[in-house]
Amino acid sequence: MAHILIVGGHDETFRMIEDLPVELSVFQNSESVTLRQARRARRLCVFDYRNQTEALGRARALHEFEPVDAVVSFTEHGLMPAAVIREALGIKGNAREAVRLTRDKIAMREHLSGRDLGAVRNRSCHSAAEVRSFLLEVGGPIVVKPAGGAGSSGVFRVSSLEQVDSAFARSRGEYPGPTLAEEFIDGPEYSVESFSTEGRHDIIAVTEKTTTGPPRYIEIGHQMPAVLAASAHAELCRLVTDFLSSIGHSFGPAHTEVRFGPAGPRIIEGNTRPGGDFIWELVLRAMGRDLVRESICHLAGLPPQPRIPGRGAGCVAFFAYENVVIERVQGIEAARRSEGIIRLQCSLEPGQRLGPLRSSADRQGVIVAVGTDLADAERRLADAQARIRVETAPLPH
Ligand SMILES: Nc1ncnc2c1ncn2[C@@H]1O[C@H](COP(=O)(O)OP(=O)(O)OP(=O)(O)O)[C@@H](O)[C@H]1O
Ligand SMILES: [Mg+2]
Repeated sequence: MAHILIVGGHDETFRMIEDLPVELSVFQNSESVTLRQARRARRLCVFDYRNQTEALGRARALHEFEPVDAVVSFTEHGLMPAAVIREALGIKGNAREAVRLTRDKIAMREHLSGRDLGAVRNRSCHSAAEVRSFLLEVGGPIVVKPAGGAGSSGVFRVSSLEQVDSAFARSRGEYPGPTLAEEFIDGPEYSVESFSTEGRHDIIAVTEKTTTGPPRYIEIGHQMPAVLAASAHAELCRLVTDFLSSIGHSFGPAHTEVRFGPAGPRIIEGNTRPGGDFIWELVLRAMGRDLVRESICHLAGLPPQPRIPGRGAGCVAFFAYENVVIERVQGIEAARRSEGIIRLQCSLEPGQRLGPLRSSADRQGVIVAVGTDLADAERRLADAQARIRVETAPLPH
């Protein structure tokens, strides 16, 4: 039986592979460890695996005791430790360079510059003055964001010199390290889910993304599959495939975010893992692809597993109230029972005082719906939403 090391992950990840004939070892942090993982894993090691030196030391010890065949992570902070372990032990897993280029947005822009993959003017900035000179050079709106950010935290659109100081300081405040300034690509936004084996990229779905818009662009909805003209769809998929090959992503799921600007599609960011924000659940329930299971089967040399057909389409909508006091919340249970709803989570409560949305983490829950096509899924989502009544009052100053 193959021995696979998994770095991090949620219970849902482990549920997907519960019955597979593989021996699992798991590195997990103390906040995410559960009984399910403890039961499933033959060996479970609880520590802060983001510490790559410690993760590698523990992996070496494990490997010496019982050789590990492959290492994998499906979660943002586990990707780099897993890649470092893979490289050091010379076992199966994803390439370190592909992870480095996608975890660091400045490295990604440097990598893309000079390649024929859709230019986005950008600059790594260490001061507000550098951002100001870049803004003047671009002569139009720009976006500033932390190089290692996630969840839209510290992302700001800047269109005038007066906005630079506060955007730069707030972006800096979220994460240490340099700030990336990029020209603002105007146009609809998509993400592309894919699964790669031996460097070949299978595009699974294109999803349209809805955000709060400027200045922060926090994600509030996803629709899969996106409604796109065939030529635009092909152009987008070609860009993503070329991008994944260029970074050397050879194995596993990827989630690549793209904006379709006036000069064509442009990469916003790439991730060598399944899409978050319940996009993974749409891939599973709407497209019938269990990418965690497929990854483990591939690494363990197991035959491809039978697929459960997907419903065809799905959508995700977040609760994203801001600057209000919640007075009443009704109908959540009825909405949860509504047809086509596969997930409803809501943390809204009367008396809650909600300030501004600063990142994805400030959203208050989610509804996930599936249907035979996108219109059907959206109808089911709207039916569920219609059952929910949230009364709010302005937030007193
Ligand atoms: N150059 C750009 N042009 C236009 N919009 C941009 C640009 N860069 C970022 N954005 C907007 O900001 C959002 C967040 O940026 P990005 O995805 O790089 O950050 P993130 O923190 O990794 O986000 P998340 O984890 O929520 O995907 C994007 O989805 C997009 O709407
Ligand atoms: Mg993003």
